[in-house]
Amino acid sequence: MKGVILAGGLGTRLRPLTLVTNKHLLPVFDRPMVHYPIECLVRAGINEILIVTGGEHAGDFLKLLKNGKDLGVRHLEYAYQEGEGGIADALKLAEDFADGAKVCVVLGDNIIQGNLRRAAGDFFTQPSGAKILLKEVPDPERFGVVRFEGDDPGGRVTEIIEKPTDPPSRYAVTGIYFYDNDVFDICQTLKPSGRGELEITDVNNAYLQRGDLTHEVLDGWWTDAGTFESLLRAANLVADGGANLAEVPVVANA
Ligand code: DAU
Repeated sequence: MKGVILAGGLGTRLRPLTLVTNKHLLPVFDRPMVHYPIECLVRAGINEILIVTGGEHAGDFLKLLKNGKDLGVRHLEYAYQEGEGGIADALKLAEDFADGAKVCVVLGDNIIQGNLRRAAGDFFTQPSGAKILLKEVPDPERFGVVRFEGDDPGGRVTEIIEKPTDPPSRYAVTGIYFYDNDVFDICQTLKPSGRGELEITDVNNAYLQRGDLTHEVLDGWWTDAGTFESLLRAANLVADGGANLAEVPVVANA
């Protein structure tokens, strides 16, 4: 399985910081943001990685990461997304890199405490389709959110809604996705959403309609880092306990 990190977009929610650099090069505690998704893939045993980025600071990724060897990447490629056409638009650029293989896609602003190894192993043995990772959050309206059959969090996912005003559950779809190679055909069928983007939620709903979408709930903490609040939260979480740990320590309720 190959890894794809999506690090394009304009990062408008972090202006003025993102006027002078790419969002994914901003610091999260002691490392640039993009180090976390790279480490997350490498620790899951995925060491062939494509980074999709864009904008006028794209060249700085090369300066920072070079060939990726320092972070344990065996093969690092870069692709350039013109404009900000959405997550699924950025993913389209990974088709040649994937070359028929399954992919694990990680959004460049997502950071996890734990480790993807088990989920990656589960998807490796899944004959086809896609897998999403969920996390219960206090603010589901900021994310893609799942509806469960009978409102039972242990049940089947029946729908995914992007940034719902009235969330059907508290389970957000994290920015970590596993896809078979059909994902590139699905991306070609998408139409821009109301915000003018090709939505990853539409990709996931397409797999759901085929009856070929599985899900797991992620262990340990998960956060994005794309707003001032979540960037600060990410830095504090990393400072307090690290990210991409082999085993997530059991945290006692204070
Ligand atoms: O963090 C998880 C959430 O990420 C999911 O729950 C949502 O379903 C999903 O749509 C996404 O929501 P956001 O609104 O937070 O996505 P955002 O526009 O911030 O983009 C997240 C990352 O995707 C960003 O750090 C880089 C990449 N991206 C985004 C866009 C719009 C690209 O590579 N190209 C793009 O054009």
